[in-house]
Amino acid sequence: MDPITRFQRWLQDAKNSRQPEPTATSLATVDEAGRPSVRMVLLKQADAAGFVFYTNTRSPKGFHLAQTAVAELCFYWNPPGRQVRVHGEVEPVSESEADAYFASRAYQSQVGAWASQQSQPLSSRAALVKAAAAVALKYPRKVPRPPHWSGYRVVPQWIEFWEEKPFRLHDRIRCERTEDGTWSEQRLFP
Ligand SMILES: Cc1cc2nc3c(=O)[nH]c(=O)nc-3n(C[C@H](O)[C@H](O)[C@H](O)COP(=O)(O)O)c2cc1C
Repeated sequence: MDPITRFQRWLQDAKNSRQPEPTATSLATVDEAGRPSVRMVLLKQADAAGFVFYTNTRSPKGFHLAQTAVAELCFYWNPPGRQVRVHGEVEPVSESEADAYFASRAYQSQVGAWASQQSQPLSSRAALVKAAAAVALKYPRKVPRPPHWSGYRVVPQWIEFWEEKPFRLHDRIRCERTEDGTWSEQRLFP
C-alpha cells in the first residue's frame, strides 16, 4: 500500500477511535544555525502532494521555514499505539488554496488570525480580547485572509510508520520517495 493511503487509513482509525485531536502533530523546524524548535499544529490536508498546516507566517516557525525550508511532522495516536513521522522539504501553499481554507474557517477563528501577532509579547489577555473586538468591528461579516496567515506543505521525502507490538518488538517501516517518484519500503529495527 502506498504510504499516503496508509497514512490516511491510520488517521481515519485515529478519528474512529475518538481521539480528542487526531490531526494534531508536532512540527519540528530548524533556524539557519541549525537550532531546532518543535510545537504542535493541526494537519489540514494530506494527499499525494504533501501534508498541509496553517499558521502565522511571521511566527518563529514561519521565519525558520523561510530560512531553512525543511521540517518533520510527528503524529502519535494511542490507542492503537502508532507513530507516523513525515520528513521533507516545505513549500508555501498557493494563495488561492490559503484563501479557500481561510474562508472555510469559523468567523471567530478568522478574526483571531488578524488579532494575534503570534509569538509576540502580549501585555494581558484583555489586550488580546480588545484586539479581536476591534477586528470584529472592522470586519463585521466577511473577513479577508491576513497577508501574514497562510499554509505550508511538507512534501515528504520519507514517511515512517511505527506500530506498537508485544515485547517491544514493534513494527517500523520507512517509505522513501525514489527519484522516479515511486516509493521504496524498508523495515527498520524498532
Ligand atoms: C493541539 C495544538 C494544535 C495547534 N495547532 C496550531 C496550528 O495549526 N497552527 C498554529 O500556528 N499554531 C498551532 N498551535 C500553537 C503552536 O503549538 C505554537 O504555540 C504557535 O504556533 C507558535 O509557534 P512558534 O512560536 O514556534 O512559531 C497548536 C497548539 C496545540 C497545543
